[in-house]
Amino acid sequence: VPKLVTALQEEEEEVDLDPSKVKVTVFFGTQTGTAEGFAKALAEEIKTRYEKAVVKVVDLDDYAADDDQYEEKLKKETLAFFMVATYGDGEPTDNAARFYKWFSEVKEREPWLQQLTYGVFGLGNRQYEHFNKIGKVIDDQLIEQGAKKIVPLGLGDDDQCIEDDFSAWRDQLWPELDKILLDEDSSAAVATPYTAAIHEYRVVIHDSSADSYEHKQLNMMNGNTSYDIQHPCLVNVAVQRELHTPESDRSCIHLEFDIAGTGIKYETGDHVGVYAENCEENVEEAARLLGQSLDLTFSIHADKEDGTPLGGSLAPPFPGPCTLRTALARYADLLTPPKKTALIALAAHSSEPSEAERLKFLSSQQGKDDYSQWIVGSQRSLLEVMAEFPSAKPPLGVFFAAIAPRLQPRYYSISSSPRFVPNRVHVTCALVYGPTPTGRIHRGVCSTWMKNAVPSERSHDSSQAPVFIRTSNFKLPADPSIPIVMIGPGTGLAPFRGFLQERFVLKEEGAQLGPALLFFGCRNRRMDFIYESELKKYEDEGVVSELIVAFSREGPQKEYVQHKMMEKAAEIWSLLSQEGYLYVCGDAKGMARDVHRALHTIVQEQEKTDSSKAEAIVKQLQMNGRYLRDVW
Ligand code: 2AM
Repeated sequence: VPKLVTALQEEEEEVDLDPSKVKVTVFFGTQTGTAEGFAKALAEEIKTRYEKAVVKVVDLDDYAADDDQYEEKLKKETLAFFMVATYGDGEPTDNAARFYKWFSEVKEREPWLQQLTYGVFGLGNRQYEHFNKIGKVIDDQLIEQGAKKIVPLGLGDDDQCIEDDFSAWRDQLWPELDKILLDEDSSAAVATPYTAAIHEYRVVIHDSSADSYEHKQLNMMNGNTSYDIQHPCLVNVAVQRELHTPESDRSCIHLEFDIAGTGIKYETGDHVGVYAENCEENVEEAARLLGQSLDLTFSIHADKEDGTPLGGSLAPPFPGPCTLRTALARYADLLTPPKKTALIALAAHSSEPSEAERLKFLSSQQGKDDYSQWIVGSQRSLLEVMAEFPSAKPPLGVFFAAIAPRLQPRYYSISSSPRFVPNRVHVTCALVYGPTPTGRIHRGVCSTWMKNAVPSERSHDSSQAPVFIRTSNFKLPADPSIPIVMIGPGTGLAPFRGFLQERFVLKEEGAQLGPALLFFGCRNRRMDFIYESELKKYEDEGVVSELIVAFSREGPQKEYVQHKMMEKAAEIWSLLSQEGYLYVCGDAKGMARDVHRALHTIVQEQEKTDSSKAEAIVKQLQMNGRYLRDVW
């Protein structure tokens, strides 16, 4: 088994021995495991990015036996991160309670943490009054005691997508950490603890047999029925159809996953995480650029320098052995513009010196403007960048560990109710498709996969995907007689279709349904009025009291859902005044922001009050969990 990369041993004892290393401690205060997961993910990424870093993940409870020891040990830290969750009414998690009590009350005469550089990422929920209190107090106290902040306090909001908040916080962190942990000679940064072992027998293993390896893994999970991001469940696509008419130049897919017999449980309003595969064309292009055969079977191991496995913390980036085709399809993010560390790794494996130079320049401080224009601004995918530097042929271990990020699952608001379709999870997905500044046609990975998915109703060889449920608090009121107002243009309709299915079942069971308004928006009734007949049927049956549709491209002027809301201002306010709930789903930046403004105006006008009182009323609605948003 030839060695492709020199592995690096990252043992803690090395810190004392080797002055070139930097110790990094990642503390976590966790209740359900999310903060711990983030701490571990952060630690792994720091290890992969920075050869110098010796990283340790620490449970705050295990850090020290008593308060004096906390102080003594903290004084020895130089670079530390705190991933801390806030619970209930501004409470720390159980494992952080002792540390928090002590640290928040520390009143030193003079700053004693000047040696410490730190970052805090808080995990909380904006629906609660003391949003991220623990993170905020720890952050304030660290500053008060003289520590130096490397990155602004991260305020993770579990009410929205906390993974996105965490990833945005990390993106802010890397350029700052680069300054501390990257050597001037940037090629040092490519050392990675992963090596790729090419199986000596280059047997062509059919994809199906490589697949079955993973099926076994996934199906084993079927017994324990608790699926999550790390343990998804492989399910079949049962139904797939286009929702737009042929007149439309866009595409929106209705997809149904068959969850019969899997033990998957969900509630109306939850999200489904889907692991899609890259399309064949991109997989082939990637293999060509790597100069490798798609049928090569290999696996990736984290090895010590002597070739023995590096047990424990560092799991391989994906399960193996598998073919390069499978690895590229499932595990590599090929379309996101590459990070600077990826460029450094490419430079280290470019045989053409001018290419290596240019790659190094792009990743350097001086090349910052070029990087932001040529890579980020022009949305150059990893594949496009590799095509521009044909001499860069990184070994597979380097490619999968340091160049191509792991392909992430995509989340969709489930558009069905388990009470209506117990064996199905429905998804309503708009195809992401369009030209980038370089002229490339960008096709979203998961929406393209859904567009091409083959359902079991059309073929015995149907498409399959690993999926898992992410719970949300976007839920109907427990009492179905409480009025609701739903606003969801485009695919923002998805969770409301689930709501209506649920109300349909409740009605059949004899429940008294309260009033329900549904605001939907699309371009043109002939092209993209998705689920039109279903929605009209629900309106006729009284499952929804009124369906109000804004067509943005029919008349001379744009008509949006918020304009329709203003026309119905009195009714909306009357429903909300009867303890009603208001729900918004869809695009966060444009639509949800404008709808929020419209709501504020409605409250102000209907209550005949001033702007700040209206704001307080809207805030109160939000705090009471009666103004809920599922936005992206
Ligand atoms: P447009 O594409 O004509 O601008 C679903 O995508 C619908 O939401 C479309 O009709 C789209 O209109 C509309 N839309 C776009 N931006 C919006 C915004 N800021 N507020 C409300 N609706 C919006």
